[in-house]
Amino acid sequence: MKAALIGCGAWGMALASHLAKKDVSVTVWAHSEEEAMRLAKERSIEAAFPGVRFPETIRFTHNAEEAVSGADLIVFAVASPFTRKTAEQFRDVIGTGRRIVIVTKGIEENTLMTQAEILSSVLPGNTIGALSGPTHAEEVVIGLPTTIVSASEDRAMAEYVQSVFISDMFRVYTSPDILGVELGGSLKNVIALAAGMADGLGYGDNCKAALITRGIHEISRLAIRMGARADTLQGLSGMGDLIVTCASMHSRNRRAGILLGQGRTMDEATREVGQVVEGIYSAKAALALARKFDAPLPIIEEVNRVLFENVSARQAVHNLMTRDRKMESDIVTEDLPECWQSGNSR
Ligand SMILES: NC(=O)c1ccc[n+]([C@@H]2O[C@H](COP(=O)([O-])OP(=O)(O)OC[C@H]3O[C@@H](n4cnc5c(N)ncnc54)[C@H](O)[C@@H]3O)[C@@H](O)[C@H]2O)c1
Repeated sequence: MKAALIGCGAWGMALASHLAKKDVSVTVWAHSEEEAMRLAKERSIEAAFPGVRFPETIRFTHNAEEAVSGADLIVFAVASPFTRKTAEQFRDVIGTGRRIVIVTKGIEENTLMTQAEILSSVLPGNTIGALSGPTHAEEVVIGLPTTIVSASEDRAMAEYVQSVFISDMFRVYTSPDILGVELGGSLKNVIALAAGMADGLGYGDNCKAALITRGIHEISRLAIRMGARADTLQGLSGMGDLIVTCASMHSRNRRAGILLGQGRTMDEATREVGQVVEGIYSAKAALALARKFDAPLPIIEEVNRVLFENVSARQAVHNLMTRDRKMESDIVTEDLPECWQSGNSR
């Protein structure tokens, strides 16, 4: 079994290590010759994984053809702003008839496409899957128990990816709902920014619980209108990923949110985090999707105001707390008492 890992960031390297420990033959493509050479020599990313050394069997290259030659599975793991450009760079060497799985999360700002949709359009004639869930690289790389979802419209593909990645410490479920899996994984980054802002303001656990719960409510509202399944959003790549991202200091989106809550501007916060903060890209895209699919997303709207309109995080929380009064659920069913059946009364 041979796998090509396109991307050598924290997540790409955590997955490369995991596969190498499963005796998969792994070649990692780095986006620069220098980075490929550095990784081959040092076998570590000290900033992300202090003290961790990657298995000796992993090969590193900057040559696209060498990376994918003979690979049974190609894994795309570059940060979302680089997915399209990198896929275009690989179009000729990948050709058709290959299995490709995307592990990147994010919605493309100008096209509103998910990562798998980008790969399907740039690399037609290949079988595409997505692998996503509550999976911090820092924990996977040291072998802590983790669960994830392998999604594809093609069941054989979802089960193939499951068989490649599954281990007794890395449990992989399958799903036919690739759209729901990708939307859950991408939109939670925007809610994580909000959760971080609340932390930065010194607001407490009640506020965090509210953001997580109302956050999954609005992610689901949009995703379902776009064609995703409700149960996917209640699962690992929806609720699961949202919980881990809003609660963990491993989350760069949450860390950026904390800085915004403490009064930094978006530019200052991203500089200080020092990595791509994908929630910032997804925030804009989510708002555009909300308008396209007529889905109100109040938390995501306020995050956009903080990021792009200089509204303070404190004002954004105030705006959320003083919205029109509402019923908790949008769903009005016939089994409700008659006086509850017309939705909001005001
Ligand atoms: N880190 C995690 O715990 C984790 C877990 C699950 C999913 N993810 C997702 O995986 C994706 C990558 O995250 P990461 O943590 O590895 O990010 P990272 O910032 O550590 O790495 C960024 C990646 O982008 C690539 N890159 C940087 N500049 C590039 C360029 N100019 N051209 C092409 N590629 C370039 C690098 O090769 C690197 O692989 C993200 O979408 C993230 O949401 C991350």
